Amino acid sequence: MIRMYAGRIPDEIIAAVLRQNDIVDVVGKYVHLTKKGRNFVGLCPFHSEKTPSFNVSPEKQIYHCFGCGAGGHVIRFVMNIEGLTFPEAVRSLAEEAGIVWRWGDAALEETPEQRERKAMIAGHELAVKIYHYVLKNTAEGQKAVRYLRGRGFSDKLIDEFEIGYAPRTWDMLARYLAKNGHDPETMEKAGLLARREDGSYTDRFRDRIMFPIHDAAGRPIAFSGRIIDDDGGPKYLNSPETPLFQKSRTLFNLHRAKSAIRKTETAVLFEGFADVIKAWQAGVRNGVAAMGTALTERHARTIRGMAKRVIVCYDGDGAGQSAAQKAIPLLEADGGEVRVALLPEGTDPDEYIAAHGAEAFLSQVIDGAVSVADFRLLMLRRQIPPVGDEGKLRYVQAALRIVAALPTPVERELYVKRLAAECGFSVEALNEQLAGMRRQAQKNGRARDNNQIRWNNVMQGAGGAKSARALLPAYHNAERKLLAAMMEDRELAMHVQEQLGDAFNVEAHAAIAAYLYAFYAKEKEPNPGLFIASLEDERLAALAGQLAFSEDSGIAGDPQVVEDYIREIRKFPKTQAIKQKREEQQQAERIGDVRRAAQIGMEIKSLELELKSL
Ligand code: CTP
Ligand code: MN
Repeated sequence: MIRMYAGRIPDEIIAAVLRQNDIVDVVGKYVHLTKKGRNFVGLCPFHSEKTPSFNVSPEKQIYHCFGCGAGGHVIRFVMNIEGLTFPEAVRSLAEEAGIVWRWGDAALEETPEQRERKAMIAGHELAVKIYHYVLKNTAEGQKAVRYLRGRGFSDKLIDEFEIGYAPRTWDMLARYLAKNGHDPETMEKAGLLARREDGSYTDRFRDRIMFPIHDAAGRPIAFSGRIIDDDGGPKYLNSPETPLFQKSRTLFNLHRAKSAIRKTETAVLFEGFADVIKAWQAGVRNGVAAMGTALTERHARTIRGMAKRVIVCYDGDGAGQSAAQKAIPLLEADGGEVRVALLPEGTDPDEYIAAHGAEAFLSQVIDGAVSVADFRLLMLRRQIPPVGDEGKLRYVQAALRIVAALPTPVERELYVKRLAAECGFSVEALNEQLAGMRRQAQKNGRARDNNQIRWNNVMQGAGGAKSARALLPAYHNAERKLLAAMMEDRELAMHVQEQLGDAFNVEAHAAIAAYLYAFYAKEKEPNPGLFIASLEDERLAALAGQLAFSEDSGIAGDPQVVEDYIREIRKFPKTQAIKQKREEQQQAERIGDVRRAAQIGMEIKSLELELKSL
């Protein structure tokens, strides 16, 4: 249960949250962003699309999707993506930024859940320290050190990953936590302790090498404990599922790897976290791993959000390769690019590095990663060796199915040539067979094609809006330009308020202007993000977001342009009225009402004069 606040969240807190959470950083955790001019673009996380229409402006600190209209400031983004209420999102961002929650004099109350999570993290922080200390400074810890050194973990690496040792003693951590005031019940819920029948607590991990696991922000949330001799129970014991740690979403090493992942736009996905650590030592700074579970959609989404490309580097055994086959489609979703690093049969990355060294691992395995099609063909060759006529026929048949799925004709041609050379068939024969397969696939894939058409429609919708905009009447264009500039310039907004007030011709524009005047009556500084978020009507908010992104707001500096726009906006109702009067005049002439026609003629004259004087 989330406890509600006694009142509104003070504006200072909202302002601080907006100031201290950069929208590009926050959105970048969920969406892969690329720089485009002054903005960043990516695929919208709120609707499915294949061409990026999701824009983020670092200057204005807002986002806007031209596909689905979603938009606003960083708080709105967190609300929508995490499914939080406004206060929850503010709180989460405030915590992220380390903003102290004070409310007048009284400190803001934390929810019980938050307090508990904090206590659990504090317990883990302490456990990381004590396990690491025991490994480094006790006689018992030396056997763990020897083991790790034997596996090629340098002392520096042991320190960097804060690898520790949980001694054989059954309550070392339990006593230590209690001494430091940690509630044993909470520590049990955190997965650090186990409760005995008699109500006392023991350590969950005993006589194991302890690998701390962190969340994306770098806070320790769990452990994986490895036995030293491979013949005493499960090789790895992981923390249970807790409020802090969910295997389906945690990626080992993400907090260390994320900056390298963003920089290189590439992530390396390993099967075991020991591989991540060894590869880190070998120079792979963008490696992550799931924790003792198959890759989930959630994992894949996190990775895709940060990287354009993923190199899957799973163990070179059957289990590893079939796990890779399962992970690939998840990583390929939404246009993710996947390559597969190949290891000699029966070795894992850690063993490869131990045997061949870091250089070879980087140049042969990582840099030598192959395309998914190549990987599939390699797997196929193991399954159906192309030997003998029958073997070759079966192999080629299955291989062509892989080739048929390739997106471009040149790729297909390349593979057809290779297959022809490999199995001794003619390119023509293979092409004929391939054409048949593709026809069949197209028939079967109608549903998918329809999907494609649907995407196209969405995109056309967006493009259509853009081209329609070019044809907008001058007054409409002027209103958009002015509003966009007013959102960023208080002086200009004040000026327009004096000159035009709410005399915008498009109703929604008039509404936005009115809200903007009200906003400036309260706020001294322009803040498009805050303004857009203050609009409760979603359509108005979407329109304001669109204006903020699509219209160049630089006009504020040019008084001539501003006056032209204001005139354009004022002109419209008059030209409309003149048009109307002309029709009435013609009507009067038609029925022979000469007096009335002359009267209307005078009115038109005076309107035209007014128009000229604008
Ligand atoms: N795993 C686990 N429990 C086990 C075995 C494995 O949770 N009993 C998980 C661990 O997260 C491990 C991953 O599965 O990192 C891959 O397993 P494996 O390849 O067997 O481990 P390695 O990384 O090779 O570990 P080591 O080199 O220490 O044997
Ligand atoms: Mn291994």
